[in-house]
Amino acid sequence: MKARETWKNRSVFIMAAVGSAIGLGNMWRFPYVAAQNGGGAFLIPYFTALITAGIPIMIIEYGLGRRSQASANVALGAIKKPLRFVGWLSIMAAFGINIYYCIVLAWVINFFIPVFDITSWAVDITSSKIHFFTDILHLSDGPWDFQKIYLPLLIGLFLAWLAIWAIIKSGLGKIGKILLFTVPVPVVLVLILLVRGLTLEGATVGLNYYLSPEWSKLANPQVWLAAYGQIFFSLSVGFGTMIAYSSFMPKNTELPNSAAITSFGNCAFSFLAGFAVFSVLGYFAFITNVPIEQVAQAGPSLAFIVYPAALAQLPLWIKFFAFLFFLTLLLLGIDSAFSLLETVSTALSDKFNFSRTKATTIVALTSFLLGIPLSTGAGLYWLDIIDHFIMNYLITITAIMECIAIGWVMGTKKFTAEINKNAEIRIGFIFSFLVKFLTPLILITTIIISFIREIEKPYEGYPFSAIMVLGVGTLIFLIICALLLSVFKNDYEEEQENGIRLSNGGN
Ligand code: TRP
Repeated sequence: MKARETWKNRSVFIMAAVGSAIGLGNMWRFPYVAAQNGGGAFLIPYFTALITAGIPIMIIEYGLGRRSQASANVALGAIKKPLRFVGWLSIMAAFGINIYYCIVLAWVINFFIPVFDITSWAVDITSSKIHFFTDILHLSDGPWDFQKIYLPLLIGLFLAWLAIWAIIKSGLGKIGKILLFTVPVPVVLVLILLVRGLTLEGATVGLNYYLSPEWSKLANPQVWLAAYGQIFFSLSVGFGTMIAYSSFMPKNTELPNSAAITSFGNCAFSFLAGFAVFSVLGYFAFITNVPIEQVAQAGPSLAFIVYPAALAQLPLWIKFFAFLFFLTLLLLGIDSAFSLLETVSTALSDKFNFSRTKATTIVALTSFLLGIPLSTGAGLYWLDIIDHFIMNYLITITAIMECIAIGWVMGTKKFTAEINKNAEIRIGFIFSFLVKFLTPLILITTIIISFIREIEKPYEGYPFSAIMVLGVGTLIFLIICALLLSVFKNDYEEEQENGIRLSNGGN
């Protein structure tokens, strides 16, 4: 067996995990999800989700990686062979997500030239909308209306893949050095945007909208669903990524506190990014006399349409701040994207004994090719549907299965004893209760509600054929891949699973 690479020390590991967690989800997704789901009141379901699902599952993934020193497939397979499939399922979810995550990076890359001309296309929300949907995305009329492959998007996609391929191929030592740049720099940039935002006139209008609690929303189950979804997406748990990352740590590494640092760090950053975003939106509402509700209800297009329009109204240094904003998005996204690539390529190496270069190249090339349809005029629709199905179903299922694997198959007694060996914070009864009962229960409820909603009304009114082919079809495709990978050619995988069983005294 090859000697496993390791992170240089615990700080590099935590930084890698934080880099994976902090991504587009924090700056682009969190603010509008919070605003749409009760503003300040959303923080209650959000933190409940963090404590009851985010942190426990983060600890599970860290523990699985550390004890097995291997990727999700082997880590779960070592507990019981059939669980290998669950491991592959989470890895396939990472594979699927990365295909569209990189197209979002391609959009961001496509903003770098027009950003210097922002005052001409972001005169108001309408013109900024045209710029994004027509000039950048060339958005067509529906998911089956491709128009053609748009070269700038394809080039952006290629550049994104080239960058993360080159980074991951170079090994953990280099990745550690790159993280020194991609983790702290966007945090500093957000702080700069934050100070700029807070010192603008009208900023409080935005902050009031962001933070003032609508308590009645707490009675709405959809708000709770949104909170759990946001936690999973934002913490990168359920994808096997944290299993892969912690598999590069020595067996005596501290875990529960590391999990808490990663999770709270990520959520604190989201909260902060919300201030940077809403202060600027408040200013925009103030300057243009548009009610803040209208400005902020933009949903996913907030970062690409409304925020640029708001930046274009700044009194000074418009291009500088606009450039800073897109640079922040790029740096935030890049370490999440390469962690997703690492998840899949480490799993291939662990299965077939491939070299790092070989595994990385195979995964990056396949994913790039599969992402090409997203560089057509139908790209946004494809992204939207695929994201909805992976995030609402696949990840919830893998998370439930991870809880069952630890809570019921392996047993929380054995697991907590392992975790507590080198722990700064000891876990015990509460963790066991969550993992065995509460977390799976909440997640099962979540998935049932999502499913009922799905049947009542096709997601976002897309044509039935698109939902079936792109949504359900993607799930079936990923499940079949996971099944094949867990059934065929298992010698090397099995050898490792047995090794783990022996070194951990039974399962
Ligand atoms: N957490 C990332 C973000 O906030 C996105 C993401 C979702 C992710 N799942 C992941 C990143 C799995 C790495 C691994 O943008």
